[in-house]
Amino acid sequence: MDVRALPLMPEDWSGHATPAWLIVLPSDPKTWRPMGAIADLAHDAVRHGDLELKNGKQLYLHRPAGLKAQRLVFVVASDLGAKAWRGAVAAGVATLKNSGASAVVIGWAGPEPLGDLHGELATTAFADALYTYRHTKPSAPAAAALGKLAIAVDKTDKAQLAAVRAGLARGTAIGAGVTLARECANRPGNHCTPTQLAAQARALAEEQGLAIEVLDRKAMAKLGMGALLAVAQGSDEPPQFIVLRYEGATRKSAPIVLVGKGITFDTGGISIKPAAEMDEMKFDMGGAASVLGTMRAVAELKPKVNLIGVIPTCENMPDGRAVKPGDVVTSLSGQTIEILNTDAEGRLILCDALTYVERFKPTAVVDIATLTGACVIALGHQHSGLFSADDALADSLLGAGRRSLDSAWRMPLDDEYADGLKSNFADVGNVGGRAGGAITAALFLKRFTSAYRWAHLDIAGTAWKSGAAKGATGRPVPLLTHFVLDQAEGKAG
Ligand code: BES
Ligand code: MN
Ligand code: ZN
Repeated sequence: MDVRALPLMPEDWSGHATPAWLIVLPSDPKTWRPMGAIADLAHDAVRHGDLELKNGKQLYLHRPAGLKAQRLVFVVASDLGAKAWRGAVAAGVATLKNSGASAVVIGWAGPEPLGDLHGELATTAFADALYTYRHTKPSAPAAAALGKLAIAVDKTDKAQLAAVRAGLARGTAIGAGVTLARECANRPGNHCTPTQLAAQARALAEEQGLAIEVLDRKAMAKLGMGALLAVAQGSDEPPQFIVLRYEGATRKSAPIVLVGKGITFDTGGISIKPAAEMDEMKFDMGGAASVLGTMRAVAELKPKVNLIGVIPTCENMPDGRAVKPGDVVTSLSGQTIEILNTDAEGRLILCDALTYVERFKPTAVVDIATLTGACVIALGHQHSGLFSADDALADSLLGAGRRSLDSAWRMPLDDEYADGLKSNFADVGNVGGRAGGAITAALFLKRFTSAYRWAHLDIAGTAWKSGAAKGATGRPVPLLTHFVLDQAEGKAG
């Protein structure tokens, strides 16, 4: 992927030789800038009913008259807001992906200057459209010819040029992070075992110059990670505990820590899941994938911040040695846990990771997990669920999500919800009943986070899509990357 800004005035667009133009038109033609032959074509198409000036409508023209370009796509955007802009770019790129065009130049026909977010969102939409899963599907369509993206910016407007360029750089890094997260999460359970996930992390560390440490079962047992090991004991695949470090600030500077749930396949264990759609539980390492993707993006952007990515990873399987409902285990924190439902395994591997990260004396810890079906019922597939007792931390995560169009919605965390977690046989039970299931899961985790500022993102509804477009989304890599960059710049939270 090759992405850049193209300093060019609208009156020179028609004379610019390119395989394709993607012109984003505001819905009011009176606001269009002087674009010569391009404007003539647009007015003509509207007059003859070939292009409706409504958000998302588009028109493809081959060998457009009066242009040096081989193709032209008009897409209408109701305004320059993030959603309309990204939608317009995504629609235009989807059309051109199936053409022979190897490059596209985007031109915004409206009067307002583009900002950094427009550059970023165009780039991430481009990367998203170009990704194709092929690891276990060699027959997947060959890569599209399209590989180059440029955004036309008035050459006289230096501020706009600088802003768009900054956005393109951020978008390139986030796009690569999202692609990595999608690829990892899309791989089936037999091609993305905990050992293979650790190999992916090692390859990333090597490529991006990150430090890495991977603890094996023995090391975890020595530390006392009884909750994580209880989940892992039903599987022949050895568990792994991955720690990745990016050092962009001085040693003394307290790190941000991201903890990603890495269940490479969740059968439910002895509390086995129904067969329907169980295949989708290969995505149960979406949190881990988002940690890898964010480390990838941050390593490329090099902000002045320290970031540690932690991934507890194992399979959740039924077996003669598997943990049973009612078993009591001792977590790394010393708290005993009665495992009433072996399908509530995410919180068990996370609680030991959350205790482990105390040693880093972090400024903030964010865990990311495909944790509960209840979160999908509560929020659907738009927003990730955000839980935190810290308002400033919650606000910075919400802001990061809003800006990157990777939004989260804050959920309650009142202690009263935790009543159901009480156990007669251990310090805490691992489930709290059906009501408010996403909240009780978060409250379970909260018990292990008293040493630092903490937030939890439940991405069960946002990490992947079901149905015909089944596949990982790479969320919440954009949110997390923005959050980390904001922290480096000392913005809020
Ligand atoms: N990985 C699942 C959560 C999940 C389920 C995500 C469906 C997306 C779609 C998690 O490990 C799980 O099984 N949670 C249980 C918890 C319950 C037993 C308290 C759930 O949500 O049903
Ligand atoms: Mn489960
Ligand atoms: Zn799970």
